[in-house]
Formats: sequence, structure tokens, C-alpha cells
Amino acid sequence: MTAQAATASRYFLGALAVALLLAWPCPRAWSQGAGDPAAGRTLAEGWCSACHVVTPDQHGASSNGAPPFAVIARMKWATPTSLRVFLQTPHNRMPDLHLTRGEIADVSAYILSLRTEP
Ligand code: HEC
Repeated sequence: MTAQAATASRYFLGALAVALLLAWPCPRAWSQGAGDPAAGRTLAEGWCSACHVVTPDQHGASSNGAPPFAVIARMKWATPTSLRVFLQTPHNRMPDLHLTRGEIADVSAYILSLRTEP
């Protein structure tokens, strides 16, 4: 490598590092809005699995009338927005879980990721 090329590639790496730093908050902000299904799954296993079947391989679900998440995912009304509205408001047979907006986005994204047909 010539000295010139070395300088150029150092410059390039520096620029790349700056670009990554600048771009970093953007994927975070995006995942806040759209939700992270993996984080949502963890959350669901912790908070929702007492009543709902939250993963396809979950056993020992309670039969208290809470629909499995895979069933919720297939419901026509289930969209990121409607799920958010549902989870932000208390429901008679479901406790108010006081989820943050980010948690709601994550868990909604997870539920919708279980949707199988288009
Ligand atoms: C203490 C039990 C309980 C917990 C914990 C719980 N749910 Fe529920 N959930 C229910 C019941 C019962 C229903 C059915 C409500 C009804 O039919 O009135 C329900 C309904 C729902 C529905 C609407 C389904 C429909 O038929 O319209 C969604 C969406 C939902 N739950 C999501 C969640 C999420 C996400 C969590 C975890 C953050 C969670 N639930 C935790 C008991 C629970």
C-alpha cells in the first residue's frame, strides 16, 4: 500500500466511523416507532404468558379466555395502531400493565410477526 493509499483509507475509515455515529440514533428512533419483535417476544414471555399463549411452542397455557397471540395476529383488526390503542387502555378482563410506548411498539411488532398469511 502506498502512503497515499494508506492516508486515503484512514480518511475513509474515519469518515465511516463518523457516519456510523451520526446514523446510530436513527435505527434506534426507528425501532421505537416500529417496534422490535425480538424485544417484544421477551417482554411477552415475561408479562403476557401467564394468560396468553405467546409463542407457538408454549405449553401450559391458562384457559381463561385470553386468545393466543398467534390468533390475535390473525384478527382483522390487529394493526400496529389498533394494538397500541388496545394496550394503552385498561380492559375489564385484562389488567392495566402500564407498558411504555416503546414496550407497546415492541410487543405489537412481535404479535404481528406471528401473522402467517398476508
Ligand atoms: C391477567 C391475564 C392477562 C395478561 C397478563 C395479559 N392479558 Fe391480554 N387478555 C386477557 C384476556 C382475558 C383477554 C380477553 C379479553 C376479553 O375478551 O374481554 C385478553 C385480550 C387481549 C387482546 C385482545 C384480543 C381480542 O380478542 O381482541 C390483546 C391484543 C392482548 N390481550 C394482548 C396482551 C399483551 C400484549 C399482554 C402482555 C403485555 C397481555 N395481553 C397480558 C388476559 C391477559
